[in-house]
Amino acid sequence: MKKTIVSLALIFLGLVLWSQDQNRSIIKPGEIWPDSDGNHINAHGGGILFNSGTYYWFGEFRLPRTEKDRSRYGVGCYSSKDLLKWKNEGLALRVTGDTSSMLQPGCVIERPKVIFNKKTNKFVMWFHHELKGQGYRAALTGVAVSENITGPYRYIRSLRPNSGVWPQNLPEQFKSLTVNNPDLKNGSGEWKKAVMEGLFVRRDLAGGQMARDMTLFVDKDGTAYHIHSSEENMTLHFSELTDDYLDFTGRYYRVLPGGSNEAPALFYAKGKYFMFTSGTTGWKPNPGRLAVADNLTGEWIPLGNPCRGTEDENKITFGSQSTFVLPVGGKPESFIYLGDRWTPENLADSRHIWLPVEWENEKPIIRWYPSWDLNEPVIPDNVLSSKEIKEGWKLLFDGNTTAQWMNANTKIFPATGWEIRDGSLIVNPGSKAPGGGGDIVTTGKFRNFELTIDFKYSTGANSGIKYFVDTEADNGALASIGCEYQLLDDRLNPDAKEGIEGNRKLASLYDLIAPKNVVDNGPDNWNRAVIIVNGKKVQHWLNGKLTVEYERSTPAWRELVSTSKFRDFRGFGEVPEGRLLLQDHGTAISFRNIKIREF
Ligand code: DGJ
Repeated sequence: MKKTIVSLALIFLGLVLWSQDQNRSIIKPGEIWPDSDGNHINAHGGGILFNSGTYYWFGEFRLPRTEKDRSRYGVGCYSSKDLLKWKNEGLALRVTGDTSSMLQPGCVIERPKVIFNKKTNKFVMWFHHELKGQGYRAALTGVAVSENITGPYRYIRSLRPNSGVWPQNLPEQFKSLTVNNPDLKNGSGEWKKAVMEGLFVRRDLAGGQMARDMTLFVDKDGTAYHIHSSEENMTLHFSELTDDYLDFTGRYYRVLPGGSNEAPALFYAKGKYFMFTSGTTGWKPNPGRLAVADNLTGEWIPLGNPCRGTEDENKITFGSQSTFVLPVGGKPESFIYLGDRWTPENLADSRHIWLPVEWENEKPIIRWYPSWDLNEPVIPDNVLSSKEIKEGWKLLFDGNTTAQWMNANTKIFPATGWEIRDGSLIVNPGSKAPGGGGDIVTTGKFRNFELTIDFKYSTGANSGIKYFVDTEADNGALASIGCEYQLLDDRLNPDAKEGIEGNRKLASLYDLIAPKNVVDNGPDNWNRAVIIVNGKKVQHWLNGKLTVEYERSTPAWRELVSTSKFRDFRGFGEVPEGRLLLQDHGTAISFRNIKIREF
């Protein structure tokens, strides 16, 4: 009986937790994302169309490895009102049983996208199409049409675009070059130059240009473009579609020639066109890329990698390859990056990597969030969200002014040594020289608090965040003494090897307690330090991991201090309240998102 009651209670608890989860608007990139039938959403390399208040997600409907019934292959469609709960609408496009059709089972359908044509009132789907048994040689694009958004779409044909016509922006002199591919060593400088000068455009002029990874984009005036990796994946082509979106007009533009871009995902924001792409490494992720243009057809300017994670995360775009950028309905300037984390041995199991697009100096960037809330706007740096405001958080730095900080000795913010750049408070190297910056402290004092600070240290840097700083101690002679959350490049700064058993390393309580669980994002990457003080109890956190925990003002604390370099400071770390300090140790370090809440 007792057992039954326990089991029932557990089931009830499970249901409560489950229903709570259902009500939340949480996106969990990389996890299984169940659809209305409880199956992982099978729409890969896809895109989303917003129509009459509903989102429709189209993507590759891949078969699990064990699947024998290849006739179920095609383009999956799912619908949703809230971007979280997705109803399986079945296959929008399905391979045909007809073995004479290009669309027979065994062909490859990738990166399908759907747009709505206002003139014909029809939904038009384009996709990358490879023929049965031919690997990726055919490099075709297929088109299908439907009066209903969810389909079924009627397959029209597959083709190589723009046969017999030159790109609008290929310089005249390149049209008559006679360089031959076989004469050049693949990948050599000469070969790359020849590619940039239209080697493959000339080769494919008569039969049509190659079309592999693709997306569609409807410009402000309703003109639609089919954007595809062409020229052996070396150059993107932006090909204008006819008014009904079912064919090519023959006007097309080469973009980033020789740039070797795949997985294009475009959006328009802040008066500019932006495009995420990837490099060409098959199913393996590579460093993401970003480009910007004033006009859709160019010129496109590369802006580097849009990822803001650790070096390793940036190298693989958080384990994803771009597929689409979704403008969020009803939220101006709000976009979501959609990517695929491919599982080549079972493509159906590939995961969806959805991340909010954030802005850094008017450039879109992406950060990794293991989970994030769709209903919470993405908060720019040095700004509090409404949730944080409700929770009592206060900013100690607004990204522009230093009103809440002053030199620990002079009580005036230093004129040199520290600067504000790109929303960060930065110590310049060499600032410790006479007349330089010096340590800065808060104008206010704090007793029980949670402090969070993002910091980015330069190679070999040394700095620190101190708390319980008493600037008046010993008539100001001890103005910079306090408990210190150590900031250090452990790999290169010799101080990491000093002290006892690592108690001077990053996230330690300097010279007193060595840190545990250190996850260091490395030099020139942002890290987050958190210090929590509640009465005698103190904790240090680094990048979400607890590194140090201690109680002060206890016999054990005094014992610890008595063996450290602070042994001669009477009552070290025991003042009930004190200022916070950012250390100027003469090496470059940046701080931002400095937030505190008291309790
Ligand atoms: C990378 C492309 O982006 C994918 O869509 C797919 O075609 C793979 N290559 C195949 O290796």
